[in-house]
Amino acid sequence: MWESAGGLPHSLRAGPDALRGSVADVPDTLTIVDNRTGLEYSVPIVDGSIRATDLRQITAGDDDPGLLSFDPAYLNTASCKSAITYIDGDAGILRYRGYPIEEVADTTTFLETAYLLLEGELPTADALQGWEADVRSHTYVHTNVTKFMEGFRYDAHPMGMLLGAVGALSTFYPDAKDISDPENRYLQRVRLLAKLPTIAAYIFRHSRGLPYVLPRNDLGYIGNFVNMTFEIGGKHEANPVLQNALEILLILHADHEQNCSTSAVRGVGSSHVDPFSAVSAGIAALYGPLHGGANEAVLKMLDVIGDKANVPAFIEQVKTGKGRLMGFGHRVYKSYDPRATLIKQVADSVFAETGLNPKLEIALELERIALEDDYFVSRKLYPNVDFYSGLIYQAMGYSTDYFTVLFALGRLPGWIAQWEEMLNDPEQKIARPRQIYIGPEKRSFVPMSDR
Ligand code: CMC
Repeated sequence: MWESAGGLPHSLRAGPDALRGSVADVPDTLTIVDNRTGLEYSVPIVDGSIRATDLRQITAGDDDPGLLSFDPAYLNTASCKSAITYIDGDAGILRYRGYPIEEVADTTTFLETAYLLLEGELPTADALQGWEADVRSHTYVHTNVTKFMEGFRYDAHPMGMLLGAVGALSTFYPDAKDISDPENRYLQRVRLLAKLPTIAAYIFRHSRGLPYVLPRNDLGYIGNFVNMTFEIGGKHEANPVLQNALEILLILHADHEQNCSTSAVRGVGSSHVDPFSAVSAGIAALYGPLHGGANEAVLKMLDVIGDKANVPAFIEQVKTGKGRLMGFGHRVYKSYDPRATLIKQVADSVFAETGLNPKLEIALELERIALEDDYFVSRKLYPNVDFYSGLIYQAMGYSTDYFTVLFALGRLPGWIAQWEEMLNDPEQKIARPRQIYIGPEKRSFVPMSDR
């Protein structure tokens, strides 16, 4: 979600010796002249970046703790080195572990993608079988989970329920606190991937007052989830087109490098809390309308517009600063979002199956007008992944407030892979940004009687 310096791809490419980076290794340096003191400093440039801590040596005097870099919302700060996802926002490129998203989405299953993100390589046939079997054997949740789920109000927001339920899993698996043991981390990763669809399906049914459906381990990952959400009276007829579409949508969401929710997982995980709590923080971040909640916001916006004829007036309203065109714009993608391109293809296959969603006409008109309008063109605002995903989820039978839960199901492998990478990175410590204090100078406390 964070933007790179002009002209550079968003994910700066690091060479094999990226972790070394001493001044002797790198010929590239940056010379800084501090005009306050006249002193000159040379700091190394490694992988297109300087280390913010190298600025600390630049002081205006003995009582100056050293120069800070100020970067609200991390617009130009890399918080980690990562080998998981590569994005070039200007060229509309997204790759998982080096593989173009178009090829991954076209040829793998969601669990295979998860394996790729988590292990760094595509699985062999045997490895994939073992991985699928591991996940399959952990799909049940403790029956007490269903009891506290019942405590949620009938109209509780699905994302609120999801973040609460996943956080609560940490109480069922206190062994997850041992994050220093790789085998234990593997077990928790499998538990998370296996149980999230079950919890998500329970949430779906809770909102409808329907009895929970137990996992069926004779079905695949997606098939089991769809069955747990839609089965009625012991029956659900699987629709392969819709299941394939859902699989692709989850793959497209599987990772997106250091976006808001992933940064939340890394930041919270850096305190060495258990992974259920860290992932719960990611779910909380995803809930927001500027992040994963945008797919829900798009549908609400289409409802407000109501009719194709109202689109021009709505666009004018957005241009005067009254609200945003939800599902448009991205911090990183400034030409197009490659996921949006793929999602449009998925939409065609889904709507051919389910019939056209009446809101699609409004969405297409919005897109057509916005892509011709100088306001959006000059700001490089294009449809993002969320513009069409909501319409597809709705056609599949999911309610608007449930869309972000589906996004969370997709993003889970990325969160866990990034968490694992953070824990194994010797340079990472507890996340603790600095601040620039702008409050009052020291002053004497005023007793209540004198205020
Ligand atoms: N509609 C209208 N104007 C917009 C929009 C939009 N969707 N997005 C950005 N702008 C304008 C903004 O008002 C600003 O204009 P000005 O320069 O005149 O002040 C300019 O474009 C730059 O906006 P920004 O807020 O600095 O951009 P950002 O990179 O901080 O924000 C964003 C990125 C995704 C939060 C933003 O584009 C947005 O709010 N989009 C709508 C919400 C949305 O669809 N979010 C999903 C993102 S993709 C999935 C995900 O990552 O979760």
